[in-house]
Amino acid sequence: MTTATPQSLPDQTPGQILPLTATRDAAGRLCVAGCALPDLAAAYGTPLYLYDQATLDGMAAAYQAALAATYPADWEVAYAGKAWLSTTLARWAAARGLGLDVVSAGELAIARQGDFPAERIHFHGNNKTQAELAAALAAGVGRIVVDHAGELAAVDALARAQGRRQPIWLRINPDVAVDTHGHTRTGHAGSKFGLALADGTAEATALHALRLEGVELRGLHCHIGSQFRAAEPLALAVQRLLELAARLRDLAGWRLAELSPGGGWAVPYLADQAAGLPAIGAYVATVAQEVAAGCRQRGLALPRLVLEPGRSLAARAGVAVYTVGAVKQTGAVTYLFIDGGLADNPRPALYQARYSALLANRLSAERPQRVHVAGPYCETGDVLIQDIDLPPVQAGDLLAVPASGAYQLSMASNYNAALRPAVVWLAAGEAHLVQRRETVADLLAREATPGLTFGPDAAEADRWP
Ligand code: LLP
Repeated sequence: MTTATPQSLPDQTPGQILPLTATRDAAGRLCVAGCALPDLAAAYGTPLYLYDQATLDGMAAAYQAALAATYPADWEVAYAGKAWLSTTLARWAAARGLGLDVVSAGELAIARQGDFPAERIHFHGNNKTQAELAAALAAGVGRIVVDHAGELAAVDALARAQGRRQPIWLRINPDVAVDTHGHTRTGHAGSKFGLALADGTAEATALHALRLEGVELRGLHCHIGSQFRAAEPLALAVQRLLELAARLRDLAGWRLAELSPGGGWAVPYLADQAAGLPAIGAYVATVAQEVAAGCRQRGLALPRLVLEPGRSLAARAGVAVYTVGAVKQTGAVTYLFIDGGLADNPRPALYQARYSALLANRLSAERPQRVHVAGPYCETGDVLIQDIDLPPVQAGDLLAVPASGAYQLSMASNYNAALRPAVVWLAAGEAHLVQRRETVADLLAREATPGLTFGPDAAEADRWP
């Protein structure tokens, strides 16, 4: 546990979806951390992603303060890097005393390049390759979160070959369904993640792990889903994990040293989605009290409690900035075309996620009109926002999309050979380019030129055998 440096806690006013530092200047331009978005767009181009450090600080502090206040033993907040990871983010997370979840050799490499301490890294994933497990061991990651029996054997063999004992957690499937989009539910029976509790697989695998020399079973983990708004299903999952821990104590004298009930807490993407969503502090308190009470009831010593927020740390800190290219009337529908969309944010297409947008370069008193905000990609589903009321805009106007900090850039693609956006980190009134925009040269750098020849004769022969 690391004590958080004093930071302001995030503004919990319902409907807050812009970064904590968002303001309008006298000219009506949207600013984040004192930087005017039109200036940033001019300097770095669009689509542009902005990260506000003050908001990241506030969110991390909200988690840390809530755990310190409500959990009477050791704890850790481990950022789930899949939400968005860069070397700068890794450096920031290290400085804030966070742990870090990674799920691939790529994320591990980014974290290490950002000097993130290996012992505070947890390596997740349901199908880690031998190469990834070897990389994890070579880096000295703190925990490997084992998903299934085959992986347990692989970690054990690799560690024994090096004369080491790798600390592990087991990922448990507690068979709990949360209320969220089906694609982001991960703890129900039939999910591809984790060891099933109900049929005894989890218990048998844990007992087996305790007999292995290459691994040290330190804890149990579950992650039941993402973007859920009520903690009750998580409380049930926690009780099921503690029940397993108590059985393992009774059967094998094992002590649960660490417990991670994952992440998954929701964020509002639209102002009206904040209604009824408990604050981070309330969610953390529920989990902390559930763990403490469940342990007391079963006579278990309190484990180190590890929470793994991704979205709720990063989403609100991020703003995507786009330039309007054209406005097009098609029948009854008005399309507002912007220079990004599906390629940098597949979430509307994948999860029917809804977003809002603001005019960023000026304020307008004109009557809003109903429009669809669509990107340039060759896909009917490339509609970033369906049905939004915006003041009349014209080519060259800038749109800012709040709550863009999680699972957008990390899921961005090169569809249509799109170039992934630049990322600018905003802190104390200063802008720092932390990821440059991808270039055509980056795309071409992957192309290989083997000695294939495609003579006209061969092509003719194929067509007319
Ligand atoms: N821990 C584990 C083991 C996870 O698998 C995840 C997310 C987290 C923590 C963090 O969850 P969060 O606090 O960010 O909800 N692409 C989807 C979200 C997938 C989440 C996958 N696992 C989306 O855009 O909604």
